[in-house]
Amino acid sequence: MKTLVIFGSPRRNGDTAYLVKRLLESLGGEHMTVDCYHENISPCIDCRACRKSGKCSINDGMQKVYDYLDICDNIVIASPIYFSELTGRLLDVCSRYQLYFSQRRFRGISVPPKNKKGGVILVGGGSGGKDKAFSTAKEIFRMLSVSDVFPPVCSPNTDTVPAKDDKNALAEISELAEFLGSEKNIRADN
Ligand SMILES: Cc1cc2nc3c(=O)[nH]c(=O)nc-3n(C[C@H](O)[C@H](O)[C@H](O)COP(=O)(O)O)c2cc1C
Repeated sequence: MKTLVIFGSPRRNGDTAYLVKRLLESLGGEHMTVDCYHENISPCIDCRACRKSGKCSINDGMQKVYDYLDICDNIVIASPIYFSELTGRLLDVCSRYQLYFSQRRFRGISVPPKNKKGGVILVGGGSGGKDKAFSTAKEIFRMLSVSDVFPPVCSPNTDTVPAKDDKNALAEISELAEFLGSEKNIRADN
């Protein structure tokens, strides 16, 4: 089992990072983490080369992510909530998945090749904003052949209770690990 984690916090040891660490400790198999704030990955510039070539014209850290997307079984989007959304840098990285949209629309090729499972981890200093962020995550998953998305794992109010002390969130992380590691299918409300 292979899991791709798209990590959208600038804080390497913050609340999102803690929950991701706990997930990966429970989950078997291999994983690759894309650190959206610290890796050399540019946003899509809508050059439209992929409409003809089926490849992205930007040669940067994203190329290894495309390779892993071809073979992974699970994708996890993990982000703090900023302005009730996924963070900007995470969206920049995910804009590069436009490659897959173009392949379908302009070349009739369905990629990435296999159906995957998805998980979403969201943390917020306050109590609001998860619905919009989760809805955006599901949009991204649609481009990535993720057919089965677990309900979001949320740790709100981190200004007063850090994620490491949020018992609900930690229980949800265990459930997410079980879902990703099993044959079981649980579809989040769409
Ligand atoms: C620019 C910015 C915007 C934010 N917007 C929200 C928000 O809309 N809702 C919320 O609950 N928290 C918001 N926060 C708080 C973060 O989500 C919160 O501090 C979170 O725990 C940070 O996670 P991290 O430690 O993984 O980076 C915002 C923080 C920043 C820096």
